[in-house]
Amino acid sequence: MDAPPPSRSPGPASPSGAPVVHLDGVRKSYEEGGRTHVVLDGVEVRIHEGEFVVLLGPSGSGKSTLLNLVAGIDLPDAGSIRIAGNELARLDERARTLFRRAHLGFVFQFFNLLPTLTVEENLLLPIELKGRVDAAARERAKRLLDRVGLADRAGAFPDRLSGGEQQRIALCRALVHEPDLILADEPTGNLDPDTGATILDLLEELVRADGRTLLAVTHSRTLAERADRVLRIEGGRVVEAPAGVHPR
Ligand SMILES: Nc1ncnc2c1ncn2[C@@H]1O[C@H](COP(=O)(O)OP(=O)(O)OP(=O)(O)O)[C@@H](O)[C@H]1O
Ligand SMILES: [Mg+2]
Repeated sequence: MDAPPPSRSPGPASPSGAPVVHLDGVRKSYEEGGRTHVVLDGVEVRIHEGEFVVLLGPSGSGKSTLLNLVAGIDLPDAGSIRIAGNELARLDERARTLFRRAHLGFVFQFFNLLPTLTVEENLLLPIELKGRVDAAARERAKRLLDRVGLADRAGAFPDRLSGGEQQRIALCRALVHEPDLILADEPTGNLDPDTGATILDLLEELVRADGRTLLAVTHSRTLAERADRVLRIEGGRVVEAPAGVHPR
């Protein structure tokens, strides 16, 4: 038998040319105090493999809501969400969890680091959930920590780190299991400009060099300028922002 190709995991099982992220007529509302608050209404999105896409929109416009839907953390009221060819609503909760572990890296807006685990343990968690932590995984975690300038903090607990340091760890954790699709909710929101630039370099390098797909929510003009495409949430819909013009 031929040796397997030296590439990473087979990648999203999307039919060739089909978008990795495919949203059709997506609607999402929340019930609050007996009233229905419609956040997303008729959202259409297509993102192809290897694309770096930025999502803009004012606070409260539904950016995090949209990322949670793409990650299968939440389900839409109506419409279709297909990720790498998988209709998320057709998977039960367990299957969605397994799908996330295999294919997705999520950098949350509020870090979500586990306080009782060290930095290194937090980093290795996605790998542990996916399979087994081996020497290669430890080496990857070490390289990522080094890359974000926190190699000497592997044994620290998250509450000993600054907000920006926690954000950098959260980024490493989202990347360590080599996901095909990376979702990032304001990945540079808590960072000073220099550190933010390091994170952007890392994100961009991953997307460009390894052919991963990135959907990032941001208020950062720099990040928006580096993206292949910029989308914007307006009145519950997603519109393509004109090239070069990225108002908040
Ligand atoms: N679980 C929930 N229950 C009720 N309302 C919610 C819930 N989650 C979000 N919302 C509401 O939905 C709207 C969109 O929220 P979302 O967090 O997606 O905004 P956002 O664009 O990410 O904002 P920000 O830039 O401030 O992070 C807000 O009005 C918010 O109050
Ligand atoms: Mg948000």
